[in-house]
Amino acid sequence: MNNGNEQYIGKQLADNLFNRSGVFVLPAMTLLNSEHVRLITQHRIILEPHDVIQLDSAAFYQLAVDECTEAMEHIFEEFRYTKSKRLPMLELRNEVIPFIQQVSEKNDFYGILAALQTKDDYTYRHNVAVGILSTLLGKWLKMKPEELSMLTTAATLHDIGKIMIPAEILTKPGPLDTEEFEVMKKHTTLGYEMIRDTVGTTHMQALVALQHHERLDGSGYPFGVLGHRITDFSKIVAVADIFHAMTSDRYYRSAAPLYEVLTQMEENVYGKLDPYICRVFINKLMQSMIGNDVVLTDGRVGKIIMILAHDPLHPLVNIGEDFIDLSKHRKLGIVRVLPQ
Ligand SMILES: [Fe+2]
Repeated sequence: MNNGNEQYIGKQLADNLFNRSGVFVLPAMTLLNSEHVRLITQHRIILEPHDVIQLDSAAFYQLAVDECTEAMEHIFEEFRYTKSKRLPMLELRNEVIPFIQQVSEKNDFYGILAALQTKDDYTYRHNVAVGILSTLLGKWLKMKPEELSMLTTAATLHDIGKIMIPAEILTKPGPLDTEEFEVMKKHTTLGYEMIRDTVGTTHMQALVALQHHERLDGSGYPFGVLGHRITDFSKIVAVADIFHAMTSDRYYRSAAPLYEVLTQMEENVYGKLDPYICRVFINKLMQSMIGNDVVLTDGRVGKIIMILAHDPLHPLVNIGEDFIDLSKHRKLGIVRVLPQ
């Protein structure tokens, strides 16, 4: 039934919601997803603008990502508990995917990143983060809407095989030994089988779970295939996966600063990750930092004014009266980007 309630998906309820008979439906502060809207409609309630709060974008990103992470945790704990063989796609489609799509619509890369910072829930937040980052990448690569939506689901499910990996290995507070790493690698083939055996998924989505650790030069796993045999979806998810893993606090090391990660990605990953996809990612992220202050290697603080397409990591910076083109001053670099 279309009664206009759909437009409130992604908004937050201002007060406790009751139906006309006074039956309690949902608590105040609920971030509405399509399942909530279905429930509200079932109770014959038509929402009005004053029923919801207008969130500023930072608060919306944080709330949406937190909700998705919690929903993922809940959905998959239940899956693990019931020992079902099929992934709960309906719940995923109702409670997680729409929020990931809404956050990705904003195109505010730097703002979104803050909400993706891991708390103590790396495994689930990582899936949501890779879902969002891959969707942004797909948009920048000008994918068609149907493809993009397939990519969002594939990316959100990319590490799903980890459900089958023992917790001692997943959360080990140090690097894995050879034997443990062999077990960890199995999350790719396990994820592939789980997605393949679930109704309502595509082969492409299963392939992303299988291939997201494969590298162009054949150095990846599980099969060490070369670039031409890796699907575009898997190449996109690999970039998002590596970036989020490097910028997150893990059990065994703390997060590297954002700019350092980008520099490392540019220096080390060519040959392993798709260079065009990487370049688009770095460019867009740097673009979203225009207006941010940066600390330079000589200790001065300047503001990013312009990103140069051919050399995005060395932008034009303004300090007082001066404008410095970092692409021409190779001895001078950025140490740190300060938040706006
Ligand atoms: Fe993985």
